[in-house]
Amino acid sequence: MRKEKLFSKDGCYSRVVESNALFHRETITRGSRVIKALLDNYEPNQTINVLDLACGAEPVSITEMLSHFPERNFSYTGIDINPDQVNFAQHHFDFPENIHETYICEGNAWDPKSCSLKDNYDIIFMGLNLHHGTPEEVYYLAMQISTLLSPQGVYINHDVYRPNDQPYQRRPEHHPDNINESFSLLEPALIEGVALPDVTKNELAQNSPDAKWRLSYSKLLHQSLIDQHAGVECADSTYKHVNMRDYPISLNDFSYIFKKADNDLNIKIIRYGKAHPLMDYIAMPVVSKSRDLLNNF
Ligand SMILES: C[S@@+](CC[C@H](N)C(=O)[O-])C[C@H]1O[C@@H](n2cnc3c(N)ncnc32)[C@H](O)[C@@H]1O
Repeated sequence: MRKEKLFSKDGCYSRVVESNALFHRETITRGSRVIKALLDNYEPNQTINVLDLACGAEPVSITEMLSHFPERNFSYTGIDINPDQVNFAQHHFDFPENIHETYICEGNAWDPKSCSLKDNYDIIFMGLNLHHGTPEEVYYLAMQISTLLSPQGVYINHDVYRPNDQPYQRRPEHHPDNINESFSLLEPALIEGVALPDVTKNELAQNSPDAKWRLSYSKLLHQSLIDQHAGVECADSTYKHVNMRDYPISLNDFSYIFKKADNDLNIKIIRYGKAHPLMDYIAMPVVSKSRDLLNNF
């Protein structure tokens, strides 16, 4: 993942975002409503701590959400594994003025403790990275989030999900052309160090090595990128990335895994509608220890 061109300064990810093929605009609209509800529970002069996991070079989704609240005061921490992205975000990205403090860390978003963090965060965001994780890795991340999330806080996850009624296809262990390049997101010792529930066997479908929905999804995304003017070259490189690396869990799996990680977590799923066939695959689960908060947007 670290050296992938799509996410380097020569890549085309900013065109993917601009094209809105992955519904960044909908994320911003719907996420802003979540944050509005959250802010109702905080004092007006309180600093709101924000953690952005796999932030990328241009963390537009979360920062645009925050820019809707110019009178509020935010402290922003971003984590990205790619030094190019960290450098751009730190030195060139134009953060809104209500973000008074920024810290961008080069580290692993799946193990946020790899960065030096505050004790907890009011808003944790992950955009378009969860789909790389196996259920066990998502479980580990969910436990980290449960520890880092403040009692009235919220975790917002805009991502790609396998339709609930489609078979699970498990991510390969390594790059298909290079056995030495592991696809694992966490050190084996971290995964081995936690008592995992039997999520894969009990709740997830059997591994289906050739799930057809993955092909439908990647073809739809490829066509959308072309239709929405990201360019053929960009559509092709995104298609290649998705085919090789994206093995998303379903929204049902997401809820199951987060509940197993911490039974006090409540989950609400936000869908973006039915206006586009890709909307069947992309959604925004919202997680909070406060059930009341989830009832307020
Ligand atoms: C698809 S972009 C998402 C950017 C942004 N969050 C968004 O919603 O548009 C994925 C980003 O995740 C970063 N990334 C991939 N694996 C990571 C990891 N294990 N830890 C931190 N960042 C990672 C990549 O470097 C890239 O910048």
